[in-house]
Amino acid sequence: MDALRVEGLYKRYGATTAVNGVDLVVPEGEIFGILGPNGSGKTTTVECAYGLRAADAGRIRVFGADPQSDPDRVGRLVGTQLQDSALPDRITVGEAVHLFAAVAGGPVDEARVLVKWGLTGKRRAKFGSLSGGQRQRLFVALALLGRPRLVFLDEMTTGLDPGARREVWRLVEEIRREGTTVVLVTHFMDEAERLCDRVAVIVNGRVRAVGTPAGLVGQYGGGLRVRFTAPLDLDRAKLAVLPGATSVDRHGEVCEVRGHGALVTALGHQLTIDGHGDVELHVHPASLEDAYVAIVGAATEVR
Ligand SMILES: Nc1ncnc2c1ncn2[C@@H]1O[C@H](COP(=O)(O)OP(=O)(O)OP(=O)(O)O)[C@@H](O)[C@H]1O
Ligand SMILES: [Mg+2]
Repeated sequence: MDALRVEGLYKRYGATTAVNGVDLVVPEGEIFGILGPNGSGKTTTVECAYGLRAADAGRIRVFGADPQSDPDRVGRLVGTQLQDSALPDRITVGEAVHLFAAVAGGPVDEARVLVKWGLTGKRRAKFGSLSGGQRQRLFVALALLGRPRLVFLDEMTTGLDPGARREVWRLVEEIRREGTTVVLVTHFMDEAERLCDRVAVIVNGRVRAVGTPAGLVGQYGGGLRVRFTAPLDLDRAKLAVLPGATSVDRHGEVCEVRGHGALVTALGHQLTIDGHGDVELHVHPASLEDAYVAIVGAATEVR
């Protein structure tokens, strides 16, 4: 069964159309990423999917249940760490875990949760006294407390230090192994590439591309980039017509040639013929960021 199905989701706030016909299908067991520019409707989509907001139009099913007509059932299946979550300043970390454990229902080893999330030393600390990263960690921990079958994590690693980010990634992979489906909103391309089985790119309230990170890179990434320090007498026009080359740019001293397939050998060969055989070529494969920029660029051009 699909963990989440969103069909034709539409949501307005006054004159703003936040979500403009989003379709998403997330099979059980997947880590699914949602990417997109600020204000493109990611959080709104997730909030509707969870039942926190009512959609203006469209159909949402969480393991077959409608979050609007069956909120209790959906509430039991879903955990959330929403963007801009908040707790009262005076609640302690230990109390928050205790409270959320009670709401989540099933048995929760509260001490183990604190150890797992590196919050043991903060058990008696008030929420208002936590650093940004500690708050973030607490929210992710709370979202996962009841071992939900589907969890929404909205910018879960924003504000975390690099070590904590890696730790959260590891924990997300772990909960997936335990059977939880994960929907992850993120602005970090490395996070999406590393964690997600598939990602959707939402621009202006609409899904513009869906696929595996590798699939999107292949389709939209624009091939690899070869960078080298340009010799003074470099003939750029010659490089532009090399087999596989799609573009040649120069940023200061650095020349960047983009393209596919045979480009690297052809470029090396040409430079050698021209007496620049000692130039060091740095080859960078296309990344999810390249694909993302291309997808967002194409979507905003047509508007
Ligand atoms: N409660 C609200 N009232 C009015 N407008 C809202 C509200 N929440 C969101 N919006 C608007 O809806 C649009 C989509 O917002 P949303 O929060 O879904 O974007 P997002 O993709 O999550 O952005 P970000 O990457 O910045 O978190 C924006 O134009 C935003 O200003
Ligand atoms: Mg958001």
